[in-house]
Amino acid sequence: MTVSMCRRLSYVAVLTLAIVAGTATTQSRPNVAAHGMVASPEPLATDVGVAILKAGGNAFDAAAAVQFALAVTYPAAGNIGGGGFMVGLTAVGETFALDFREEAPAASTEDMFVDGDGEMVAGLSTRTHKGVGVPGSVDGMLELVDQYGTLTRADVLAPAIRLARDGFPVSYALAGSLQRNERLRQFASSVEAFGLEGDGPDMGDLLQQPDLAATLEAVARDGRDGFYTGRVADLIVADMQANGGLITHEDLRRYGAEWREPLIFEHAEYQLVTHPVPSSGGMTIAQTLAVLNMPVLERVGYHSAQAISMVTEAQRLAFADRNYWLGDPAFFDVPVTRLLSRDYMEQRRRLLPQNGMAGTSTGVSHGPLESDETTHFTVADRWGNVAAITTTLNSGYGLGAVATGAGFLWNNEMDNFSARPGIPNQYGLLGAEANSVQPGKRPLSSMTPTIVRRFGDFYMTMGSPGGPTIINTVLQIYLNVTVWGMDIQQAIDAPRIHHQWLPDRIDYEPFAISAETRAELERMGYELNERRSIGMAAGIKKTPEGFLAGYADRRGAGTARGY
Ligand code: DON
Repeated sequence: MTVSMCRRLSYVAVLTLAIVAGTATTQSRPNVAAHGMVASPEPLATDVGVAILKAGGNAFDAAAAVQFALAVTYPAAGNIGGGGFMVGLTAVGETFALDFREEAPAASTEDMFVDGDGEMVAGLSTRTHKGVGVPGSVDGMLELVDQYGTLTRADVLAPAIRLARDGFPVSYALAGSLQRNERLRQFASSVEAFGLEGDGPDMGDLLQQPDLAATLEAVARDGRDGFYTGRVADLIVADMQANGGLITHEDLRRYGAEWREPLIFEHAEYQLVTHPVPSSGGMTIAQTLAVLNMPVLERVGYHSAQAISMVTEAQRLAFADRNYWLGDPAFFDVPVTRLLSRDYMEQRRRLLPQNGMAGTSTGVSHGPLESDETTHFTVADRWGNVAAITTTLNSGYGLGAVATGAGFLWNNEMDNFSARPGIPNQYGLLGAEANSVQPGKRPLSSMTPTIVRRFGDFYMTMGSPGGPTIINTVLQIYLNVTVWGMDIQQAIDAPRIHHQWLPDRIDYEPFAISAETRAELERMGYELNERRSIGMAAGIKKTPEGFLAGYADRRGAGTARGY
């Protein structure tokens, strides 16, 4: 493998400080626009989406362009070396789901992350090239543009190529993130790509990524062959072989994004359009909402001890099922219909504690049946098309390693499999057989891109990063709007709470609960844990006048813009 002599980062003084100031603004209220809206975690990528919409592209063209742009400007989670899930709504009311999740290479084995004693080998799935799944983002976005876009792939890739080749001024957020990241520094390819020889780039430095630009150009020219075969595939396989990774030419050739039927369910007067397994968020939210007693929830009031307890107990039950029953449907017969059936939900509801005290996770398991980095962005256009995409490298900057010569960061998505039943992964999630490692299988995910319709019309869309907290973040945004009457900014900014069955504790953000409420929850028997931040959402909601109100979470440096 030859490493290009070209310097990846030039510390060119950027004269146009105005550009930095102009692009790095965050917002405190939703942006409202009539013709189109983009909400993403990074302002330059948001602008790419708006430019595509203004140039006549639809929401799906813009979404693909944002995904490629984020791979350049938001390397912590934007990617072409990872994967994700999308749900879409078209102008004529069609809904669809697109699964571009990574896949286990053919040489994977069920026990590849455990030692002879069955113990997890620390770091194997998160910090080595064995943790890399076959990437899906390139095929997914090309499929999207092919099926639902109106522009060419060259059009949607052009802004990302320009950003990678010409460079862009490093924002305050990116400078801090790159300077702090220790894992990137362990890989020479990453040090070179992001200029991390010293302290790392400062705000305003120009970040150019010529290898990444060349990879994106190959995709623009040759479509999926530009990535999954040919020169880039050769670079990928060489990188894997040099670093003990498993991905082969055959793995790349056989990878294909999957079109799936979205998981759609009704709740009150709303219809939620979510992604089915191997994404677990839709199923888990459907189950949580099904056991929640809505009239009582409304009566006890926002973030009261009773309300928190009710939602927690519902989440406990849903996550217990999630961790046991859910996995890639191509490998495990996930009992979706049964898990969402009226009588099963009734059976689960009977397990809710009736004495006003905390339930326990040891007392709750999956039901018997008879038979901190990912990112979310969203685009809505003037025709009524809506795209919601959650995409990830798994950890922040994934494995931390740039694919040598190809310029993009590797995922460490294999850690989302359960290495062995009963061993938690990096998010503390326990898994079972449904989510064991198998060649060609896609690991279970918590990513939950969601579109909500009301009386048949587009109502809102949202999603978030945050591992398992994604599911409860999306649930809370939905409840904040539909039950507590918040607008999209208030609903996204409101402090969050999280429970995932095990560990059996309620995590909460600062200011989410008062001292009195905390004391009351402790009296009820809950363990509580304050946590700095949960999720980083983006969303769009239709205003009563029919405009599009967009918002990117205060927890990040993103923007929503429209025209
Ligand atoms: O698919 C999943 O559920 C995880 N790979 C998501 C990771 C994530 O959200 C990390 N972000 N903070």
